[in-house]
Amino acid sequence: MIKSKKPRISLVGAGPGSSDLITRRGFKLLQSADVILYDALISKELLCEIDENIPKIYVGKRCNKHSYTQDSINKLLVEKAFECGHVVRLKGGDPFVFGRASEEIEYAENFGIPVTVVPGVTSAIAVPQSQGIPVTKRGVSSSFWVMTATKKDNSFSEDLKLAAQSSATMVILMGVRKFDAIAKNVSKYRGEATPVALIQNGTLKNETCVVGTLGEAMSLYRKVDVTQPGIIIIGNVVSEHPAFFEEELQRVLHDYM
Ligand SMILES: C[S@@+](CC[C@H](N)C(=O)[O-])C[C@H]1O[C@@H](n2cnc3c(N)ncnc32)[C@H](O)[C@@H]1O
Repeated sequence: MIKSKKPRISLVGAGPGSSDLITRRGFKLLQSADVILYDALISKELLCEIDENIPKIYVGKRCNKHSYTQDSINKLLVEKAFECGHVVRLKGGDPFVFGRASEEIEYAENFGIPVTVVPGVTSAIAVPQSQGIPVTKRGVSSSFWVMTATKKDNSFSEDLKLAAQSSATMVILMGVRKFDAIAKNVSKYRGEATPVALIQNGTLKNETCVVGTLGEAMSLYRKVDVTQPGIIIIGNVVSEHPAFFEEELQRVLHDYM
């Protein structure tokens, strides 16, 4: 008699982009999966390293082009666990940072399916780091806020305003298309000379970064491809980026001439 496999789910953080930034525990689980459900920002190289006989199902949602709703992902997770056994749900960065992991855990547990979570390197810290920008630095910034700029209804979150009134480094996810509006909002509290960076496709071969001040946000915005995922960092730690000084020199020269 063939024993059917016990359903179980592992939520695994894949890290910020580069395929070698997944944890060893996460990678081991991927290799032992019966099926993998993966998000939009998962590296193709990482998936290629996993046995081709393990089915890999894309369940990404990017910029309103939802191929899957959260409800349908929850259902599929449970369906596949009963059908195949061990489902690895591979998520970008860390599953608990804007990853909707709690909803998936709750849904699966309602069906009595055990869920384990493997942390990942979050893009909120690794992407600025990839450009040499620390989120904290002794004497410069002693804390950081990780936030999304807008709420479900697309209005600016109260946290954005509160963080802008603090001296913390602001790390804003999912805000590329609102870059200019975010900069205008924050500069009301921090001033237009505050350093800002927008990093896209961090830790990948096509990583890009623009740096400047909040007052220059519009001209910086024109240089970027808004369809690419990015992180906005606001605060004095951005002046650690080598390009900030070049830009600063240009600004001083421009004002002097
Ligand atoms: C839904 S959130 C998920 C965050 C993820 N759980 C984490 O811990 O990194 C997706 C957002 O993370 C940011 N992001 C993720 N990977 C990125 C990367 N490699 N480069 C720049 N931004 C990235 C972008 O702001 C993107 O819109």
